[in-house]
Formats: sequence, structure tokens, C-alpha cells
Amino acid sequence: MTFTKKIALSVNGVQKQAEVEPRLLLAHFLREDLNLTGTHIGCDTSQCGACTVMLNGEVVKSCTVLAVQADGAHVTTVEGLGDMEQLHPIQQGFWEKHGLQCGFCTPGVMISMVGLLKENPDPSEEEIRDALEGVICRCTGYQFIVSAVQHAAKLIAEANQSKETITSAGEGR
Ligand code: FES
Ligand code: FES
Repeated sequence: MTFTKKIALSVNGVQKQAEVEPRLLLAHFLREDLNLTGTHIGCDTSQCGACTVMLNGEVVKSCTVLAVQADGAHVTTVEGLGDMEQLHPIQQGFWEKHGLQCGFCTPGVMISMVGLLKENPDPSEEEIRDALEGVICRCTGYQFIVSAVQHAAKLIAEANQSKETITSAGEGR
């Protein structure tokens, strides 16, 4: 008999419940049980970072976490960042600055960079390159990724600036 455990977690803002084997990795749970195949699996040594997701706001490699460890957690995958109508600034940055080629690493890179921009909204090129250490891109040579992240940082700063302008205009009434 296979032992399973009930888990309940929020994935991209949607509550999910499942019965999983204790050995099931979060990466496999997301891909196979929830069909969120944007989370990629590119190695079996926890090095490539293609499986990177946010777990309770922290950037983690989902191949290093068991699904049962995510019980009660909030998980964000690349599918939760934005959609075709409203791209997330990081997606917009990759779109406009050609930050991908084959795209295999891209979901993990984007999630890692969302984590970076949350901590550091105006990273230097060196800081972006440091933060990219956990994710391997086999195609781009990283320069376009760096440009995409810099562009995303600019878009976020502009959006915050216009929010502040609207708020102060409202307060002045
Ligand atoms: S699949 Fe490569 S680090 Fe997780
Ligand atoms: S775009 Fe191909 S691995 Fe990064």
C-alpha cells in the first residue's frame, strides 16, 4: 500500500488540495498533478534552476522541496506572473529586450529575477549577474537577460512613479 498525505496550498492565488506521496518533489507536483508545465526540470543535481518558483515569497528550486513541505504555503510559478493581456514587467522586459532564445531556462530566470527586484529594485549589472548564478542559460550568453532585467526594473520604477503621482494628485483635491 502506498502511503499518501493530504496537502493544501495556494498556487498562483488558487487554493489546491491533493493527496501526495511524501517523496514527491514540488517540481513534479506542479508539472504532473497541476499541469503547470512552465516550471521546467533541466537536471537531477539541483544546479540548473529551471525549476525555480516562489515559495512564500522566497525564491526556491522546486526540485529541492518536497510537495508535503509546501503544505499551507503560497507558491508562485511563471504562470502566475502575468498573462497575455497584462504581462508582468519581467515578462515585458524579456519580450522587448529579447531575453530568451530556446526559452527553457526562462521561467526559472524570470522567477529568480522577480525575487531579485523585490529585494533590490535598482540592481547593478554585477548584482543581476550575481543573482543569475543559480540559473543556467545554455543559449543567450546572459547579456540579453541582463538587459531584460534592467528594462523590467525601469518599467517597475515608472509604474511606481505614476502610482505616486496619481495618489498625490488625489490627496491634493
Ligand atoms: S531541475 Fe535543475 S535545479 Fe531543479
Ligand atoms: S534561452 Fe535557452 S537555455 Fe536559456
